[in-house]
Amino acid sequence: MTTTEQLRTRVADELDRARARSVALTDAVDDGDLVRQHSKLMSPLVWDLAHIGNQEELWLVRDVGGREPVRHDIDDLYDAFQHPRADRPALPLLSPTEARGYVREVRDKVLDVLDRSPLEGRRLEAGGFAFGMIVQHEQQHDETMLATHQLRRGAPVLHAPPPPPGRALPTAEVLIPAGPFTMGTSIDPWALDNERPAHDVHVDAFVIDAAPVTNAAYQAFVDGGGYDDPRWWSPEGWAYRVKADLTAPRFWLRDGDRWLRRRFGVVEPIPPDEPVVHVCFHEAAAYAAWAGKRLPTEPEWEKAARFDPATGRSRRFPWGDEDPGPEHANLGQRHLSPAPVGAYPAGASPAGVHQLVGDVWEWLDTGFHGYPGFEAFPYREYSEVFFGGDYRMLRGGSFGTDPVAARATFRNWDHPIRRQIFAGFRCARDVSIAERSQGAVTVATREDGD
Ligand SMILES: [Fe+2]
Repeated sequence: MTTTEQLRTRVADELDRARARSVALTDAVDDGDLVRQHSKLMSPLVWDLAHIGNQEELWLVRDVGGREPVRHDIDDLYDAFQHPRADRPALPLLSPTEARGYVREVRDKVLDVLDRSPLEGRRLEAGGFAFGMIVQHEQQHDETMLATHQLRRGAPVLHAPPPPPGRALPTAEVLIPAGPFTMGTSIDPWALDNERPAHDVHVDAFVIDAAPVTNAAYQAFVDGGGYDDPRWWSPEGWAYRVKADLTAPRFWLRDGDRWLRRRFGVVEPIPPDEPVVHVCFHEAAAYAAWAGKRLPTEPEWEKAARFDPATGRSRRFPWGDEDPGPEHANLGQRHLSPAPVGAYPAGASPAGVHQLVGDVWEWLDTGFHGYPGFEAFPYREYSEVFFGGDYRMLRGGSFGTDPVAARATFRNWDHPIRRQIFAGFRCARDVSIAERSQGAVTVATREDGD
């Protein structure tokens, strides 16, 4: 059992870790870069920084702590619902110096609130929930800021070691037998409202790729004319393909007869074995159709990631219940790219599905809705107001996602046209009649999913 003091120490450590990353991402560029809008899709980095502090102030200083506001005059500026990203640079935002001072002042008060919170009783404080929510919020904005860095022009300012090497997987696809599994969670103390409650879902047998689709596999679709053939695209996807003039994943550059990519300011050959990244849902779905497959549904993905056939229960992560270590998954901006297929054998699921967590968010063919028994907490704007929109689900986190927001129940969603996020995909398919009659559990097919 975790004692209250252990929990308090963990919360303080997580707050520290999140802040170290926010500081690294904002100190990497000068003040001009902090206030500039690098893309209409993104906020200026200085907005994200002060918004992180403002949410922390609202929930932890004012609500949990019951303290006086630090800066009630700026709440409106940093309310994401009041101002679309494109309008944020024109607002009278805090300067970089003011924003840094503000987040420091808020954090000092929060550490004092943390010292005094019982971390139990009231639902917002039980298990340190509100602190965990704010830690995850900061880490999610740190991933957003990393995406802003990817859109930024100019010389590289971020540096990290390359990911571990890949290796051939024993199978390209894995069959997941039919049956129920427990989706979502009712017990993870820092799980957000949309991950709750745990509930049983029956999933028909299906076959899922053992790894995300690689650059090499995706390039075969590009070079094979996949972007010119409406057969592979949904009507909505094709209309967007034409309107936006998509010809390849975002940040791919044609160089004679080869492809290069721009990655955090570095232009380099595209590594064939890495999962493809910066494709939208429509591109992922078109590739899957071209390959004779489809995208997985959200219950299929979560069953592949969590179901343990030996015990019949759902795990927190594909490898078990323990928090991710560097051997399990490419998370936490430890590397600044996805890792090649096969780089994390210790992170595979019991059925042999690799790299479900980390590397790239995976697009799924499911819209955003609440689970049966969903209850908005602590506010409707976290999840509920997005239910039923044109969103598609994304699961598993990316190399830019922190472990604290990467448990296998964590749900992300975005518009199907989004490409600046660190999203890729893997394919799935129905079980063939021959496979059904063989009752095979693992299907050995082609070596590397190409
Ligand atoms: Fe936010």
